[in-house]
Amino acid sequence: MARFFLVFFAALLASVAASYTGDRNSKCACTALKKPDIPGAEVISINGTQLLNHTVAAFPGLLPEPVTGLAICAVDVVLTHKGAHDQVLVKVWLPLKGWNGRFQANGGSGFAAGGLDLTLGPTAKLGYAAASTDAGVGFNPLSPEAWALLADGSVNQEALASFAYRSVSDVALVGKAITEQFYRKKPKYSYWNGCSTGGRQGLVAAQRYPDLFDGILAGAPAISWPTYVVAEQWPQVVMHEENTFPSPCELKAFTDAAVAECDAVDGLADGVINNPSACNFNPYKLVGHQVECEGHKITITESVAKVVRKIYQGPFNQDGQRLWYGLNFGAALNTLANTVVVNGTRKGSSFFVNDAWIRYWVIKNPKYDLDQIDYTTLEHLFAESATEYDSIIGSDNPNLSAFENAGGKLLVWHGLSDQLIFPNGTVNYRDRVEQSMSGPSKVNDFFRLFLAPGVDHCAGTPSLGAVPTDPFAALVSWVEEKKAPAHLPAQVSGPQGGDRIICPYPLTAKYQADGNASAASFDCV
Ligand SMILES: *[C@@H]1O[C@H](CO)[C@@H](O)[C@H](O)[C@H]1NC(C)=O
Ligand SMILES: *[C@@H]1O[C@H](CO)[C@@H](O)[C@H](O)[C@H]1NC(C)=O
Ligand SMILES: *[C@@H]1O[C@H](CO)[C@@H](O)[C@H](O)[C@H]1NC(C)=O
Ligand SMILES: *[C@@H]1O[C@H](CO)[C@@H](O)[C@H](O)[C@H]1NC(C)=O
Ligand SMILES: *[C@@H]1O[C@H](CO)[C@@H](O)[C@H](O)[C@H]1NC(C)=O
Ligand SMILES: *[C@@H]1O[C@H](CO)[C@@H](O)[C@H](O)[C@H]1NC(C)=O
Repeated sequence: MARFFLVFFAALLASVAASYTGDRNSKCACTALKKPDIPGAEVISINGTQLLNHTVAAFPGLLPEPVTGLAICAVDVVLTHKGAHDQVLVKVWLPLKGWNGRFQANGGSGFAAGGLDLTLGPTAKLGYAAASTDAGVGFNPLSPEAWALLADGSVNQEALASFAYRSVSDVALVGKAITEQFYRKKPKYSYWNGCSTGGRQGLVAAQRYPDLFDGILAGAPAISWPTYVVAEQWPQVVMHEENTFPSPCELKAFTDAAVAECDAVDGLADGVINNPSACNFNPYKLVGHQVECEGHKITITESVAKVVRKIYQGPFNQDGQRLWYGLNFGAALNTLANTVVVNGTRKGSSFFVNDAWIRYWVIKNPKYDLDQIDYTTLEHLFAESATEYDSIIGSDNPNLSAFENAGGKLLVWHGLSDQLIFPNGTVNYRDRVEQSMSGPSKVNDFFRLFLAPGVDHCAGTPSLGAVPTDPFAALVSWVEEKKAPAHLPAQVSGPQGGDRIICPYPLTAKYQADGNASAASFDCV
């Protein structure tokens, strides 16, 4: 009898465990999903398909390894906003086995509002109910050409509003509703996870939709978009105005020299500048030096040093007032100061984000020639871009009190050697949140910023510097176990590398010279 009860209870426990982990291996449950009610939108169609042993192929730059062996209910929801004449696709992938009880929405990159299959695959593989959207603008991270302007040449304001913020609420509301319908229970926790454009969307969620997510991970956020994107044009304008176009090889010599000079300031020579603000590298030091470039020697000129110094300083107006920040010492300069050789002559070539933003949205002429932009013109572009678009896509409102009151947690990280988005813009935002919300200690209860020494944009390739190993895990434990992250575990690759910690701003990691370059050798000071 006792034995019988044991077996009975074991079976009962197993079934409880199965329902707790959210197994839902029923084809009908997937194909019979009903249209959810979404405020402000009309759902046009819903289509659930059960996919077994599904593969998402690798994609250069966005998904390094394929994701295989997925068993999911894949749901496509198409909706339209009243009066907007748009068609927004929201994709939701629900694991058939081993749902971890959580919902996660993933952000986009460049001019795409979501990575679609490229983020749904890895997220569902980890057991999350996952969602991603195209915001009605399709999936082309590299170009907004298809949707930026209407046929009459005016700005497509509805598309911009969806790309800027509305899609963040769409993907959360649809994703959570479908998750609940499929598993017959609400997700226990809901998360946002994104970098770059996805990081900006994370901050949009905290600012505009404070109830939608329990936890938000925002990497290298593209906030203050109308200003920082125009600032990305600064290196091109400087090269053009100074009529000096350094080769990538010359630019790299400056990055390397800055690292060589400032690497050991923190007490450890590991190829990483720990605190770029404490680095006073002077580019003029390299004047007269020879660098080896593709088999021939180039002597660094004074005008090249002048260009490099202006790029690091960032944009100023004619009255000497700062318009935005520059790149940090240690960051690669050759993406924003990109050049191409045409018929034997080196000329500037603008980065695609600022190139498209200025042509389509600020000037509103796709054929505009960016080579015309001089210092005065750029100053006007800053003003026009901010006036017209700050309220739409600035995404930098410092009043997070509603998010704080809702109990949300916000973890932001930014690589200090980001070559695209100026880390000081993120620091500026954090400082403004503190000013608007009565001081750092209160803010630290729900919003922490981690500046990752030596790390480039979203820890892309090559991932130099102290790369955070799993910032999302730190967010989950903050939300679910109330363990606020005192630091983030990180890793430096290469011969002098090893385990590191990244400290919450304004603290920095200090090496406590014990002979071991390990996480335990650093303190936050
Ligand atoms: C639903 O999705 C399946 C698989 O992608 C497709 O074959 C089918 O045509 C879709 N049905 C509708 C009504 O969109
Ligand atoms: C799953 O897919 C992979 C790759 O497409 C294939 O090699 C494998 O045989 C499949 N497994 C099953 C059980 O179908
Ligand atoms: C960033 O801000 C710090 C602190 O104000 C300052 O020391 C540094 O020069 C700034 N860097 C850039 C690139 O603007
Ligand atoms: C390069 O030079 C050739 C010959 O002078 C000319 O036809 C061509 O237009 C030039 N290309 C560019 C991009 O300027
Ligand atoms: C911040 O936002 C809240 C509502 O979310 C509002 O009540 C409050 O007045 C705002 N504070 C400031 C300083 O604007
Ligand atoms: C290096 O770290 C190990 C493990 O933390 C510790 O036992 C050892 O004493 C450290 N070495 C020095 C020189 O401090």
